[in-house]
Amino acid sequence: MIRYCALLCLSALLLAQNAAKTAPNNSNVPVYTSDGRLVFPANYREWIYLTTGMDMDYNPDPSMAGHSMFDNVFVNPEAYKVFVATGTWPDGTMLVLEGRMAANKGSINKAGHFQTNDVMMRSVHVKDSRFDGKWAFFGSDDEGKPTKQIPKEAVCYSCHDQHAAVDTTFVQFYPTLLEVAKSKGTLSPAYLKDEAATAGASAK
Ligand code: HEC
Repeated sequence: MIRYCALLCLSALLLAQNAAKTAPNNSNVPVYTSDGRLVFPANYREWIYLTTGMDMDYNPDPSMAGHSMFDNVFVNPEAYKVFVATGTWPDGTMLVLEGRMAANKGSINKAGHFQTNDVMMRSVHVKDSRFDGKWAFFGSDDEGKPTKQIPKEAVCYSCHDQHAAVDTTFVQFYPTLLEVAKSKGTLSPAYLKDEAATAGASAK
């Protein structure tokens, strides 16, 4: 009897482990596979909403010509709280960028654009001391499939390093966080330089 129970318990345990492997990742901390891929945080739409950009033209994808796209940014709530308190991001921060196709014809809409169910892309910016330089980008076209880190040489890193307002993140476009960064004095020298150059150019 005891042996049967042990067998049953063991198979239940194995089943549970298998389920855990295939279940979507609903964790608010970064989860990696043994070969260093990031498991996409499937529940990111329950996180804190930071902004929506529309047709922001740093997107190098020429196939977007003639189409409009929104991009939405979300961050895990634990990291958001730390940012509000300190003006910078803790280890374990995950920011998700989601691109959605825009439409203008639909339902009662007569003017302007709305977001559709057509997700064009998703990517994740993760802060974790396991990475050289602390931050890493991961793509994700196919939700659920763990993705490899985007190589350090990619243009993603240089643009974010050279122009982002706080710690390689584009806080200048996240209205609730920009004021926090200003008051905590955490704006990056690169961003302050960009701002000074723009102010100089418009004063001329
Ligand atoms: C030329 C500059 C530029 C390049 C290149 C670039 N980005 Fe960004 N990125 C931005 C801007 C601007 C935002 C803010 C978007 C908004 O306000 O909606 C942003 C936001 C993001 C965010 C949201 C979190 C954050 O860090 O602020 C992610 C994730 C992201 N980009 C991923 C990528 C990836 C992946 C690549 C490379 C494939 C990339 N970016 C290349 C300018 C850039």
